[in-house]
Amino acid sequence: MSSFLARIEATPPDPIMGLLTAFEADPRPDKLNLGIGVYRDEAGRTPVLHCVKEAETRLLREETTKSYLPLRGHALFNRLVPELVLGPDHPAVVSGRVTCLQTTGGTGALRIAAELLRDLSAEATIHLTSPTWANHGKIFGVAGKKLAGLSWSPGDRPIDGGALVRDLDRAQPGDAVVLHGCCHNPTGLDPSRDLLSKISAALLERKTVPVVDLAYAGFGEGLEADLALVRRLAHDHPEIVICVSFSKNMGLYRDRVGALILVGRTPDAAERAAARAEVLVRALHSSPPSHGGTVVATILADTSLRALWHAELEEQRMRVETMRSLLRSELDGHGLVLSGEGSGFLTTGKGLFAVLPLTRETVEALRERHAIYLLLSGRINVAGLTAPAAPRLAQALADVGPRIAEPL
Ligand code: LMR
Repeated sequence: MSSFLARIEATPPDPIMGLLTAFEADPRPDKLNLGIGVYRDEAGRTPVLHCVKEAETRLLREETTKSYLPLRGHALFNRLVPELVLGPDHPAVVSGRVTCLQTTGGTGALRIAAELLRDLSAEATIHLTSPTWANHGKIFGVAGKKLAGLSWSPGDRPIDGGALVRDLDRAQPGDAVVLHGCCHNPTGLDPSRDLLSKISAALLERKTVPVVDLAYAGFGEGLEADLALVRRLAHDHPEIVICVSFSKNMGLYRDRVGALILVGRTPDAAERAAARAEVLVRALHSSPPSHGGTVVATILADTSLRALWHAELEEQRMRVETMRSLLRSELDGHGLVLSGEGSGFLTTGKGLFAVLPLTRETVEALRERHAIYLLLSGRINVAGLTAPAAPRLAQALADVGPRIAEPL
């Protein structure tokens, strides 16, 4: 008797999603989830934004069909999202060198991008910052790409720009370099304007394709400021691939809505790239789900809903910033020196994530003894903290003790 499924070896759980499953199974009432990157308010809830509720109310009232969307998704979404990301007056937008496909979240956009890059060259390497979002390696690895690491920062000290540029110098023409648009996952550390200039110049010189993963726009320094990196690269580079997620900044996590933006040298090249991406979409999930894309398009197209979105997002951003400062002062208050560089990385970092330089044993002790869940890498979701939770984390760290924490 032949066996197929029985031959599959045991697979370890996903480091982020697996932690969520473990958290949900934990019966302790005071458990604290600092794992998966979702925004939480001071009451620990991940709310549905008011602008989203209003767009959904209109959608329910006005929707007339559930028939399939085209392979590229909603036409209005595909016009408004590049205008949002690049700016309506961006030369690439104005000259029609931009195409866009609505995707199943940012992950869907990255996956289609990975397949597109493989189609262009099976040999090309994808360069990922080290560390990076745990799923990047899986997405590009599943698409059969060779991967290489780029120096960054472990999280508790500045980005090593010199080492990063030296690593970029090793890239070959046709390789792709994946950069985080803002709020680097997991470190929260983004390149300075000066380092970004160097990165951009190195990419041009090495004839590599920039791929920007834009999942946290609005959570760093504000929506417009957070788009500076992607706009700068789109200004310097005739070709660029941008993978957008609306999971966090519109709170549409489970609705799976993202976008793949393709900027080509000519309108025709951008159109051919999108047509190729359509073939990949058709083979993967046929066409995107409609709900989230309609919500995003409704918000972007309506001046008052868009203003409401900006205000709600800004409120979330500021709460996360406050939690960064609070955790920093709580750690300092307990005399917890986790890093030789002090705890300043918590407030220099932006967005949802920071990496605490902790050993695996410390992370496990926090979980076992204090029901506090963070990734084994030490990454915390700062947005999971609240006014009582930040001191609790600092107290728990003091309790598990410096003998367990990474030596300086
Ligand atoms: C995270 O890094 O926690 C988020 O991007 C959620 C995910 O899908 O991993």
